[in-house]
Amino acid sequence: MIIHGAEVVLANGVKKTDIRIENGKILGFGKNLSPRAGEETLDCTGLTVFPGLIDMHVHLRDPGFEYKEDIESGSRAAVKGGFTQICCMPNTKPVTDNKVTVTYIRARAAQVGLCKIHPIGAITEGQEGKNLAAIGAMKAAGAVALSEDGKSVENTGLMANAIRYAADFGLKCLCHCEDASLVDGGVVHEGYYATLTGLKGSLRAAEDILIAREICLAESLGLPVHICHVSTYSGVQLIREAKARGVQVTAETCPHYFILTDAAIADFDTNTKVNPPLREERDRLAVIEGLRDGTIDCIVTDHAPHHADDKNVEYNYAAFGISGLETSFALSYTALVRSGILTPEALAKKMSTAAAKILGLEGGVIEAGAPADLTIADLNEAWTIDPASFESKGKNTPFAGREVFGRVKYTVADGEVKYPFAR
Ligand code: DOR
Ligand code: ZN
Ligand code: ZN
Repeated sequence: MIIHGAEVVLANGVKKTDIRIENGKILGFGKNLSPRAGEETLDCTGLTVFPGLIDMHVHLRDPGFEYKEDIESGSRAAVKGGFTQICCMPNTKPVTDNKVTVTYIRARAAQVGLCKIHPIGAITEGQEGKNLAAIGAMKAAGAVALSEDGKSVENTGLMANAIRYAADFGLKCLCHCEDASLVDGGVVHEGYYATLTGLKGSLRAAEDILIAREICLAESLGLPVHICHVSTYSGVQLIREAKARGVQVTAETCPHYFILTDAAIADFDTNTKVNPPLREERDRLAVIEGLRDGTIDCIVTDHAPHHADDKNVEYNYAAFGISGLETSFALSYTALVRSGILTPEALAKKMSTAAAKILGLEGGVIEAGAPADLTIADLNEAWTIDPASFESKGKNTPFAGREVFGRVKYTVADGEVKYPFAR
């Protein structure tokens, strides 16, 4: 196949070139390539080609919570959002803490056949924080990382052992940073809007203390850690300083932390309830600066689909989470690239290259020999976010009605057009 007429986001800049794909791989580049016998041409005039987007933090809810999402609906949401590879968190039922569940997720993903799905194994059995999970067996079955996401491993000694043990198997721990004793039932950020609404707040310190602990462990052990969904200005600064000292720490954030603040909770919309919570303008600006200066390596969705019944309740009872796969690219492009903060190449790094590097995955680059994983978008198309049109079962987004730029037109994985859907 030939991808014809598009602007292509390469590591060192954007260039107009055709791309030739053969046997699922990028074969080469050239101006106005002419199709050989049996070769198709995909006319992408006016469009921009990014390396296939990779989201290293997704909740697919399968097995166990298929009423919120399943591997098929999550895969459809992913490719519609431009993702060719996603990694799914282990807070399923049963918890993904064993090789059977890891094997099931990979087999089901292959059967659905839309995007590549990489399971993340739990750090402890049942995410109960007591005994390490079967890390080696999960790695052998195809787990690409470990995480206790949804909470932190409370016991510091156990976490140290997890980081050591993971490293022995070439895996990293992805750290959800939250001191449960400080959160103590808080549902929003502790600040003006918590007072205004009367909702119980949780301090930045609840996140920062765990970010600091994971950095201390990484530094002392000389091993890597990855910090999930950074939301505080002080957390960004902890990571910046650690990186400057040479600590092996990487970090991610989500569109809601660089676009929204806790002002969004004022009307009690439970779609704004997320963990960690939406914070203040100072935090939002620091997250953007962290993305700009390289402190924050990548953008993830923390796609957390929930059923309407989990969200259409009083704020205190609502589930935490935002359905993000189908809005992340346009939100990020609009907030960061159109506004002049990041170049398209920098956005490609944050949404693709960095995750591949952090987890040691194939892909994340457009170069000869790489898998033909491509996200092809119309960057000038304006559209309005409408959860009713989501492929995801989770319609829970605080961005409904927002106008954004950047529409995914084609998602190509291993040289096959996965979106638009064949049926
Ligand atoms: O908002 C969140 N939702 N944060 C988490 O850490 C977990 C996630 C979920 O699983 O719903
Ligand atoms: Zn989390
Ligand atoms: Zn998560």
